[in-house]
Amino acid sequence: MALLFHQNRTFLHLTPISAGILLVVVCWVLYSFYHAYATPLRNVPGPWYAKFTHLWLKVQVLGGRRVHYIHTLHQRYGSVVRISPTEIAVADFDSFREIHKIKSGYLKSPWYQEFGPPGVFSMVDPHQHAKRRQLLARGFSKSYLRQNWEHVVKEKAAMAVGKIRRDAERGSADVLKWWTFYTTDTVGHLSFGESFRMLEQEEKNTYIHVLESALMMSGIQTELPLLRFCKYLPIPSIQRLFTADDYLLDYGTRAISNAKGQEGHTSNVFSTILAESEKDGSALSSMDVNLEAGNFIVAGSDTTAITLTYLIWAVLKQPTLQRALESEVHGLAPGFTDADLEALPLLNAVIEETLRLYGAAPASLPRTTPAGGATLNGYLIPSGTTVSTQAYTIHRDSTLFPNPDVFDPSRFLQREKLSANAVAALHAFGAGSRVCLGVHLARMELRIAACLFFRECVGARLAGSCTDESMEMENYFLIAPKSHRCEITLAGRVS
Ligand code: HEM
Repeated sequence: MALLFHQNRTFLHLTPISAGILLVVVCWVLYSFYHAYATPLRNVPGPWYAKFTHLWLKVQVLGGRRVHYIHTLHQRYGSVVRISPTEIAVADFDSFREIHKIKSGYLKSPWYQEFGPPGVFSMVDPHQHAKRRQLLARGFSKSYLRQNWEHVVKEKAAMAVGKIRRDAERGSADVLKWWTFYTTDTVGHLSFGESFRMLEQEEKNTYIHVLESALMMSGIQTELPLLRFCKYLPIPSIQRLFTADDYLLDYGTRAISNAKGQEGHTSNVFSTILAESEKDGSALSSMDVNLEAGNFIVAGSDTTAITLTYLIWAVLKQPTLQRALESEVHGLAPGFTDADLEALPLLNAVIEETLRLYGAAPASLPRTTPAGGATLNGYLIPSGTTVSTQAYTIHRDSTLFPNPDVFDPSRFLQREKLSANAVAALHAFGAGSRVCLGVHLARMELRIAACLFFRECVGARLAGSCTDESMEMENYFLIAPKSHRCEITLAGRVS
């Protein structure tokens, strides 16, 4: 751009390229101002920059701090906060219920479509989703799981606890590692009809390495969609990160062949789903099975492993609570069933309190405001706006849960002391028609593994490496301890 002075007048002399750039900048500024002020969202409180750009929000996402950032904004600005030009975070109970109630009209936002080809998790259209969900639900009911998979869960949990105990007696055991093997082997067996056998082989296999890349990349790509073009860079290590989904999808063909083969030990959850769907003509194609099997691994491995890890950490920090839990589970007969565990007051209270504070998916569940717009906590929200609720903040609402930051399972021992709103606000597994499909599997895994741990590893202590700081949460859709490990020890225990 050249600035010319001529006859005491100033002219802006622009080349076509700089004129183009200037036009884009002017349009962007006008567009930003339009979004900032020419919409009812201008009245929603929040940091000034959130009106103009989502860049600071993206920085938080990429730094693994989204959940904390939004929590801090709620503490500062209230229950309805503008976090970007087009997104609102909402944390009051009435709005939460309004957004997530069945048939609310708030659909999953386009953000979910970045997760790849639509499976039950990312489908937006409510009719398409309801049909798929109805089919898959046949393989995830509590009764079906107890009848067909309880022995598998128990066997794998026992193996994981055995290895934890062995390592802990020798010095230290990383429970996050063993729980990840346990939950991944379990959901792998259920989905594909064959275990990954990571518990036996004591190491991550290719599948889990690829899965970790896939999770990281899907988290980053949902925020920065343009990054997907990096897969065309001629750098194998970068290409591998971007082709993780293809590998997972390929692996899914085992689910189909095993489901159709029906050879005893290789039967899987799809054997049931396919048999039922053939009866009533609601077919599930091979591609659907392939895709959903991959989804189950992603949705059903780290989620349960991380929750279980925080459970162990939180209980081991309170030796009195630990002793009470050890004594409760010790009273069980060796052949105990999952139904017996469901009747144990303290075990279940500990699980509920863990899910409240440390459920692995406490971050934003973005939804789109329906046609006609909405009023949330007095604020007018235009249709098409993304509204996100996060369990992290709602579960720490002191009007619902007194002393919300304290890990106190006793609040679930006297349920009558919890208000109806507090009970309805608990949503570690999501809410409404999009509530977690694997909730019964996850709860069974949590009960059985926690019970076996506190029976077999009596007197376990946190290792020196496991501190409040090492267990601080990072958040890439799920949460995880920032050290990516949680070590406990049984060394020097008097048995
Ligand atoms: C403690 C463990 C788990 C937690 C905390 C958890 C949490 C959640 C949450 C919060 C959602 C809702 C997501 C949203 O609305 O965007 C969800 C959905 C889902 N979860 Fe889980 N989950 C867990 C374990 C599992 C397991 C073991 C499976 C096994 C397959 C599973 C499969 C799914 C599926 C398929 C959906 C999508 C459901 C739909 O949209 O209809 N989850 N989960």
